[in-house]
Amino acid sequence: KLVAETTLTPDDLIAPLFVKEGITDAQPIASMPGIFQHTLQSLRKEVNDIVNAGVNSVILFGIPEHKDADGSQGDHPNGIVQQAIAQLKDDHGDNLVVITDDCLDEYTDHGHCGILNEDCHVNNDATLERYASIAIAQAQAGADMIAPSGMMDGQVGAIRHALDQNGFTDLPIMAYSAKYASAEYGPFRDAAECAPSFGDRRSYQMQAANQREALLEVELDVTEGADIIMVKPALAYLDVIKAIRDMFPQPIAAYHVSGEYAMLKAAAQNGWIDGDAVALEHLTAIKRAGADLILTYLSKEVAPLL
Ligand code: PBG
Repeated sequence: KLVAETTLTPDDLIAPLFVKEGITDAQPIASMPGIFQHTLQSLRKEVNDIVNAGVNSVILFGIPEHKDADGSQGDHPNGIVQQAIAQLKDDHGDNLVVITDDCLDEYTDHGHCGILNEDCHVNNDATLERYASIAIAQAQAGADMIAPSGMMDGQVGAIRHALDQNGFTDLPIMAYSAKYASAEYGPFRDAAECAPSFGDRRSYQMQAANQREALLEVELDVTEGADIIMVKPALAYLDVIKAIRDMFPQPIAAYHVSGEYAMLKAAAQNGWIDGDAVALEHLTAIKRAGADLILTYLSKEVAPLL
């Protein structure tokens, strides 16, 4: 330990959580062993367990009962995520950082991250208004940080402006700045029930071949007011994390995504790898590349090992 150049601690970890409206019991997600779609009640217990394991940050994803073209439940004052935020802040106050994903795919019936034009393409600027409204609803419910994940141009600026106009001048933004159109999001789309019903997300997410473009995306987000910048997924993009680290002073978050978790779990369950050892190796590598924070479904199980 004396000569370790990189240290992983529970303070680095953010646990992603799913909360679903209209279910009476937590539902296991087949492609993500150990991860559940929670009821408000089971979420409360899960977060207690996470906090007891030493992790103090969570990010919430909501699955509403009713989905429509505009994703109207996303900014509804009684939307499932808004209820979850209020409950968790009630339970934990300032001891828990409650981050909220600000996007539309969990809320729209077509599963895309934005409002669609008649030709079925995403309308970037109409979507920004929705993201701004969702951010305000989440802030009013008590969120500690807003995390826009839709990759629409101008989303950070639009959300910053809306938060400032509504008195939330101190609320930080963690921007999904370099989010790739990855095949590693499959299990998340089962969990959040948000796979696009047609097409894909390549018109708004980045292509895997590009690193310089990530620097441009980060620069735009930082200029618009991003406080923390994110790279997603993590392990296939360590060079991107490193390149951003070398150019920007902002804290970097890396999202170890659902597919990365699923691959690790599948191999471990088959006895093909030592799951705990590989988990620690992977998360340490993400920090070594330059990330300060890691969003990972491994948070609760890894924290006691540190
Ligand atoms: C979009 C969003 C996605 C993830 C986080 N936010 C899915 C997507 O872009 O299709 C994926 C996270 C994961 O795979 O763990 N709201």
